[in-house]
Amino acid sequence: MKQKICDLNSLTELSCKEFTVQSAILEKDAFLVYFKQHYYAYENSCPHTGVNLNWQKEQFFSFDGLFLQCSLHGALFEPDSGVCIRGPCLGDRLKPVNVVNESGILYAPGSNELLEQ
Ligand code: FES
Repeated sequence: MKQKICDLNSLTELSCKEFTVQSAILEKDAFLVYFKQHYYAYENSCPHTGVNLNWQKEQFFSFDGLFLQCSLHGALFEPDSGVCIRGPCLGDRLKPVNVVNESGILYAPGSNELLEQ
């Protein structure tokens, strides 16, 4: 069954939405952010140790709102590419999640729609 994340028009600059991506055998935490009038979605897993990035619900941005930030060791990621530009996983990137947009409603992908790297 499709899991709705949110209406696209409900997103405002720096919005964050958490959701899960489910397959037959596992469930992955994921999140979506709205940045410079585009949405981006990633698995909620820091490339450094695999922990969730956020320490508070639906808060992923750095204080200045320019980057996504890992709460454990402070790695900074570009919101639009997921690339780490500072921190212990410099040069690694967040795994993108292929959110489905159906008539302005955003849904979590099915298991075959996850982007593999
Ligand atoms: S766990 Fe994310 S920077 Fe170390």
